[in-house]
Amino acid sequence: MALVDKILSRRSVRRYEKRALPQDVLDKILEAGRQAPTASNRQAWHFIVITDADVKTVLSQKEVSPYSPFIKDAPIAIVGCAWIGDDEYNQRWGTIYSIIDTIIALQNMVIAAWAMGVGSCWVGVQGVPIEDKVRQLLNVPSEWKIMAVITFGYPAEQSLPRKKKSLEEIVSYNTFKKGHALESQG
Ligand SMILES: Cc1cc2nc3c(=O)[nH]c(=O)nc-3n(C[C@H](O)[C@H](O)[C@H](O)COP(=O)(O)O)c2cc1C
Repeated sequence: MALVDKILSRRSVRRYEKRALPQDVLDKILEAGRQAPTASNRQAWHFIVITDADVKTVLSQKEVSPYSPFIKDAPIAIVGCAWIGDDEYNQRWGTIYSIIDTIIALQNMVIAAWAMGVGSCWVGVQGVPIEDKVRQLLNVPSEWKIMAVITFGYPAEQSLPRKKKSLEEIVSYNTFKKGHALESQG
């Protein structure tokens, strides 16, 4: 299957087979992140691979990640962290590019995984108090923003496609489409 068809067929997968990901498959997923583009090639990111059953159990608790009890049973999870330290680079641009970079890397991993038959699901861990709880659990220093937890494993379910907005609703050419609003969200 062509890569574009892989991208088009991707769905979030929340139930996984028990078998572990072989190390070479995991390494390729991580490598796909490593090769992602970064502003100024700064690579100001860090990825934590969670394999420990106890850590996964705590991560999947309601108070830590309310919508992702499935973390517990995922063979692995990867946590992406972006450097947000108050350095000259971050001050110069008035924005924190590492946040964009880290998200691109994580999605590269999701696509690479899917191309190898490995399913995944993003888990948002932003905001108070969730991010702080994940930070404490994983010893993430305050100069690093935790962007997401993503679970990975061989699918034990065939996820149904979610309804997506049409291109007409989300694309305009040359200028922002007037009157475009988010009321059709859902
Ligand atoms: C930033 C982000 C956070 C998400 N958090 C969760 C989550 O906490 N629990 C969950 O089950 N799915 C989560 N998802 C997955 C979305 O629900 C899913 O991507 C969306 O419903 C579209 O389905 P699809 O990925 O199969 O196209 C998250 C996705 C993103 C991008």
